[in-house]
Amino acid sequence: MKFMSETLRAERPTLGNIDQILGALSEEGYIAGREIATSIFLSIALHKPLLIEGAAGVGKTEIAKVMSRSLSTDLIRLQCYEGLDVNTALYEWNYQKQMLRIRLEEQTDHTLEQKENAIFSDQFLLKRPLLAAITHHKAPVLLIDEIDRADEEFEAFLLEVLSDWQTSIPEIGTIRAEHVPYVVLTSNRTRELSDALRRRCLYLWVDYPDFRKEMEIVRRKVPAASEDLAEQICAFIALVRKLDLHKVPGVAETLDWSAALVHLHRRALDRAAIEDTIGALCKHQDDQRLLRGPWLEAALAALDDAKRNGEGWDSALERITRTLKPPH
Ligand SMILES: Nc1ncnc2c1ncn2[C@@H]1O[C@H](COP(=O)(O)OP(=O)(O)OP(=O)(O)O)[C@@H](O)[C@H]1O
Ligand SMILES: [Mg+2]
Repeated sequence: MKFMSETLRAERPTLGNIDQILGALSEEGYIAGREIATSIFLSIALHKPLLIEGAAGVGKTEIAKVMSRSLSTDLIRLQCYEGLDVNTALYEWNYQKQMLRIRLEEQTDHTLEQKENAIFSDQFLLKRPLLAAITHHKAPVLLIDEIDRADEEFEAFLLEVLSDWQTSIPEIGTIRAEHVPYVVLTSNRTRELSDALRRRCLYLWVDYPDFRKEMEIVRRKVPAASEDLAEQICAFIALVRKLDLHKVPGVAETLDWSAALVHLHRRALDRAAIEDTIGALCKHQDDQRLLRGPWLEAALAALDDAKRNGEGWDSALERITRTLKPPH
């Protein structure tokens, strides 16, 4: 099915059905459940932007990167921040180059119109991410990263671009995309996004991975970690995530921490190993203080017991979380 606005535009390659997308993600090193693959499938099939929300470091941005690699297309990234304005996102004129050209034009007998046309032509246009995406020679993946950091006026402007895929530059005219980009937006929920933006997008919530998924990620990304160490890491992280911390560790921290332990040739988790590497796991002094307290021995002992008893990790982690006294 196609929408009216897409009928004159070029066909975009797809990543196949949901199983094929799962395969493509895994090939690129991204461990995803069916809900992520389904969202990507629908976003491509329905030509709708995919809005991904979730905590920091859970793999939101990586989805866009992996999509672009799987589709063999370029990734164009618009990193949002407070005060991001339309010019920085769309285009700017290269003033310095224009000034030079004006000086050179002074010595010619070109008419005023010819001079203007020369100065406001393509070669003096600096394409910023949105214009670069609109004019790309094939459909790129456009990643609008951390849209919650941009302000609401910018969001309103973005809505226009996302619905029309065209923009007008007064000196040049209207530029219309021939290849509609695949769009991924991410948000860490530092502010609520507008209903209008949500309405235009498909929505995907990415949660912290459960024990099994995180094991797969560690196996894939830090293959030098032994199976036993990976198990201890993922079980310990699962307990840490239940604590009242300033910054709950995401997958990024799990991977950094695993790599740090491997580099220090640690084969098992104990107090010394954790203290040596805690900077890769917890990035707040108060959080580090909590973890370093007596809670640490109790947590490690509980994990050891569960492992020795051959208890399944899902039920063990749930039980330990319930019974372990939180640090304070
Ligand atoms: N499911 C996954 N499979 C493989 N790697 C993953 C997965 N999820 C996260 N990662 C890895 O974790 C790291 C953090 O991911 P990413 O930068 O995408 O997180 P994010 O949600 O965008 O974080 P932030 O909100 O801080 O920008 C990356 O190195 C990424 O490769
Ligand atoms: Mg990100």
